[in-house]
Amino acid sequence: MFSHIDKELNELVQQLPETPEGYITPHQAEFLYSFVRLTQPKIVVETGFNAGHSACVILRAMDAYGGGALLSFDIARYDATRKGAEIVKARYESFSLIVGDTKQTLAGTMAQVLSSNNDATLDFAIVDGGHDVETARADMVILESLLRPGGYLWLDDFENANCINVGVNVVGREFASSRGHCLRFLTADNRGMMLHQKAF
Ligand SMILES: C[S@@+](CC[C@H](N)C(=O)[O-])C[C@H]1O[C@@H](n2cnc3c(N)ncnc32)[C@H](O)[C@@H]1O
Repeated sequence: MFSHIDKELNELVQQLPETPEGYITPHQAEFLYSFVRLTQPKIVVETGFNAGHSACVILRAMDAYGGGALLSFDIARYDATRKGAEIVKARYESFSLIVGDTKQTLAGTMAQVLSSNNDATLDFAIVDGGHDVETARADMVILESLLRPGGYLWLDDFENANCINVGVNVVGREFASSRGHCLRFLTADNRGMMLHQKAF
């Protein structure tokens, strides 16, 4: 699935369990992998781990510059989430899964992580958890507030061409018009996302 990007990434992803939910497509994964290698974030957060596909892409890209931690948040409604997290954790010590609804877990956990180390900055975050307006909006607002100036916020599934997510579209439009500094991408495999850079 991801062998066009990296052989080791592909082998890791093949170990992940099957999941009923969608996950990052090959074209998106290629973009994400290159983006992480280019910007070299130290701390990355994603909401929506599912079975771990996007997490593997991020962690494998981090190998190229030797660094950083990934914190993934998921409500873990599927067995595949905990199983996938065990597989990823066995390969990457720098990975953590925080289980629960992000509306309850995200702000407190991240405030604790960032305040326990003065040098720690949130450099990049992906919102791909709950796709309803309330959850997507809360995830975007919380992560924006914690992001370092110049850091990047990715809203997944924004204006997907053939799989419409109304909640994500509403939040993305709202965010882009109030904040600016947003770019919309549509990949060749018809997945949309929005990328925001926090003012610097
Ligand atoms: C589209 S999947 C994530 C796909 C993953 N980023 C990937 O590309 O491999 C969305 C995930 O968000 C989780 N989720 C849904 N609502 C949530 C919430 N309120 N808090 C945390 N996680 C949530 C679901 O359980 C699911 O695992």
